[in-house]
Amino acid sequence: MQPIESLDVITAKLYGTQGYPHDAWRRLRREGPVTKLAPPGYQPFWAITKHADIITVSKQPELFRSAGRFILFPEMAAPAGQNLAAAPPLRMLVNMDPPEHREYRRLVSHWFTPRAVHKLEARLEEITREIFDELAGDGGWREFDFVSELAALQPLRMITEMLGIPREREEWVLRITNENFGIEDPEFQRPGETREDRLAFLTEAAAYINSLMEERRRDPRGDVTTILANATLKDGPIPPFELFSLYFLIMVAGHDTTRNAISGGLRAFLEHPDEFRKLQANPDLVGVAADEIVRWTTPVNHFSRTATRDTELRGQQIREGDSVALFYASANRDEDVFPDPYVFRIDRDPNPHLGFGVGEHFCLGAHLARMDLRVFWRQWAERCVAVEPAGPHELLHASFVGGPKRLPIRVKLRPA
Ligand code: HEM
Repeated sequence: MQPIESLDVITAKLYGTQGYPHDAWRRLRREGPVTKLAPPGYQPFWAITKHADIITVSKQPELFRSAGRFILFPEMAAPAGQNLAAAPPLRMLVNMDPPEHREYRRLVSHWFTPRAVHKLEARLEEITREIFDELAGDGGWREFDFVSELAALQPLRMITEMLGIPREREEWVLRITNENFGIEDPEFQRPGETREDRLAFLTEAAAYINSLMEERRRDPRGDVTTILANATLKDGPIPPFELFSLYFLIMVAGHDTTRNAISGGLRAFLEHPDEFRKLQANPDLVGVAADEIVRWTTPVNHFSRTATRDTELRGQQIREGDSVALFYASANRDEDVFPDPYVFRIDRDPNPHLGFGVGEHFCLGAHLARMDLRVFWRQWAERCVAVEPAGPHELLHASFVGGPKRLPIRVKLRPA
């Protein structure tokens, strides 16, 4: 049998062609839950695959910092000569540490509390209904790509409205997001592009976002952009690079992940039609179903931390400067935590999944994402008369975030 040290759990190609490596993770959890891997093209890292260990690491941000190598990109993803860990193209919440991290997070956290997002629920219902109405047509069979025509639209429209980005910019936001998360995916690399060009989308994004900020300083409105454009830290104004980074993170993280949960959710329902019938018979299950979909799909597969001093984890000696990769998708199948972890069960309760992370960096948008999913699946359950695949699906080539890139379906939706 292949030694666990040589198992592939990281290459973008693996994720694009075979999906999440659940068999490899199962072996790692059993035979070496904290194992050092050194795949070609990557700096070595410790693969952390157990639920309990991910919690231990995440709750000690001083010992395991997020600054530095916060995602395991292959060396080739960085422009030539640039070390992305030492000089990251952005300084966002996800690669900041306390106390700075808390100060930045406080700038926006009140917008994402359960109470704050609840106020947006009626508008989200409307946005979702509009999208369904348009696609339903006269209620006959329609054939389209579920990812781009449906799953991507609802969370995108919601976050752009919260940010106050005009609707005609939606497609642009989608393209920038695809280039960001698909940095390893050949499809999102432009023809003739050099490695140095790969991060050019950030310059384009900065130009637009800075102009939007300027506009809000002149003409304030009730959106997140206005809050950020006029916010200050305790020692003065937010440096422009950090301000752009924070904004960019919310803009892209605020919909790509949820899109992957929605399209991954449909795949799960297509493979488990009884679970979909269960939801149709009892739409109130939609709250617990949303969490089971996040557990099952785990759209954010991994984040990484760096040890700030020598330490020990499950008997393994981790050295200062070592990377530890938190594989949330593995934790979400951990046999010690979930009964029947490989069974998709929409009424799973309790469901202590780590799909939104845990501790210091727990997902800022978790309540918004849950609401997006609840509203989406409730309306889908009400309106979907029949659905079937209309061709093979395609997966994103990426090991940081994951999900279907294309999911052709034939569907009958109840008309407006
Ligand atoms: C199903 C959808 C989503 C999933 C699976 C997800 C997953 C995650 C995970 C795993 C983290 C932890 C990062 C770490 O460990 O360092 C995270 C952080 C974050 N997420 Fe989400 N997310 C989702 C939706 C959203 C939405 C809708 C927003 C909108 C604002 C958002 C914004 C953020 C931000 C800003 C952080 C950084 C928090 C920090 O470092 O303090 N996410 N998310």
